[in-house]
Amino acid sequence: MMNLKIERAFKTDLPFVMMTERSEGYHTLVGRWDEARHLAAIDDNHYAYFIARDCAASVGFAIVRDWGAPERVTCLKRIAVSNPGKELGRRIVRAVVGTVFRETEAHRVWLSVFPENERARRAYEAVGFKAEGIARGSAYFGGIHRDELIMAVLRTEWTAV
Ligand SMILES: CC(C)(COP(=O)(O)OP(=O)(O)OC[C@H]1O[C@@H](n2cnc3c(N)ncnc32)[C@H](O)[C@@H]1OP(=O)(O)O)[C@@H](O)C(=O)NCCC(=O)NCCS
Repeated sequence: MMNLKIERAFKTDLPFVMMTERSEGYHTLVGRWDEARHLAAIDDNHYAYFIARDCAASVGFAIVRDWGAPERVTCLKRIAVSNPGKELGRRIVRAVVGTVFRETEAHRVWLSVFPENERARRAYEAVGFKAEGIARGSAYFGGIHRDELIMAVLRTEWTAV
């Protein structure tokens, strides 16, 4: 079993984040930013970066957007792990969403996922996210307009489990 720690990330974690979002096979699943974009976001209070470490080794990351937003709606913008399918993703989501509800007044945490990304969907469902519907053509990704499935969990549902 892993000795997993999920904590706020530092700028020194950005090479891992950038490497992980560029992992083989991920290019159709998850967005990627260049270093300048990450540096701007990690310094921006509207974002919160999280890193998962197994002992000293980084094994996954998550980026939250609209952290502490007055609208009380927060987005799980991006997540990726270096070794998928081992329940690490759901552990990161559970920890990060728990932190959002604990440390901010968010009422809703939402995300978008490409509908065919079954593995991600199942990980999100496992921790209480519900599919709400398809946002047609909402992602301009790799030069094409793609549909996205919107999923969300509300504070009331989160505390009920
Ligand atoms: C999305 C991601 C973070 C989820 O983390 P994970 O550790 O892989 O997820 P988990 O192991 O917690 O859950 C995976 C689920 O998908 C299932 N699964 C595993 N591999 C699968 C595959 N190739 N196809 C379909 N389902 C799969 C697992 O059985 C599990 O579902 P279950 O609990 O119903 O059995 C991770 O897969 C990842 O980094 N993917 C690449 C980037 C990405 O897609 N990011 C999300 C963009 S929205």
